[in-house]
Amino acid sequence: PYRIAVLASGRGSNLQALLDAIADGSLAAAIVGVFSDRPSAVALQRARDAGIPARSLRPKAFATRAEFDAALFAAVDEVQPDLIVCAGYMRLIGGAAADARQGRIINIHPSLLPAFKGLRTHQQALDAAAGEHGASVHFVTPDLDGGPVIAQARVPVHANDDADTLAARVLEREHPLLVETVRWLAAGRIALAEDVVHVDGRPRAPLQLA
Ligand code: GAR
Repeated sequence: PYRIAVLASGRGSNLQALLDAIADGSLAAAIVGVFSDRPSAVALQRARDAGIPARSLRPKAFATRAEFDAALFAAVDEVQPDLIVCAGYMRLIGGAAADARQGRIINIHPSLLPAFKGLRTHQQALDAAAGEHGASVHFVTPDLDGGPVIAQARVPVHANDDADTLAARVLEREHPLLVETVRWLAAGRIALAEDVVHVDGRPRAPLQLA
């Protein structure tokens, strides 16, 4: 099967969406390892509950980001993934680690990139009085939240939204967005070539998921 490693720092609802899609037969893939920078991440427990090897490494045990990344990705490489999915992985991946795996690491980010990179994206959208918000799945490159976007899902922003109501509306769309994008990748339909996303061999603007 198509082998997926997942990096996650917290709750792991996006990991769970992948696990559920694999379990119900709608995603032809296997999650072969889950990795975290936080030993207490709920995502690790979700993995263990599904019988998947789960490991955490503490950044504080390493002198530099590069050393942490080297240890983390050595563990990831051991499970020989075809694809590495950052699903709520909240740590910056250093340039060397990202560069060495270009086209094989994706991230889900809770905004319509290139708008609202970084943290607290829902508050950023409210502060900017955005009429529309959403989530993006993109290839990871050394440029934080700046790699080529593969697919997006959009939601309206309502007048009475706060960051929590908006986050909940976006999260509901993140799960099918991530599953569908991974489905396309697993089917070999999406590739990164010269920093441009190709779908079925042709350069493509981000797919918009209904
Ligand atoms: C998701 O909203 C994801 O898009 C976001 O963290 C949340 C993780 O939820 N990721 C980032 O902000 C990355 N910078 P989950 O742990 O339930 O999947």
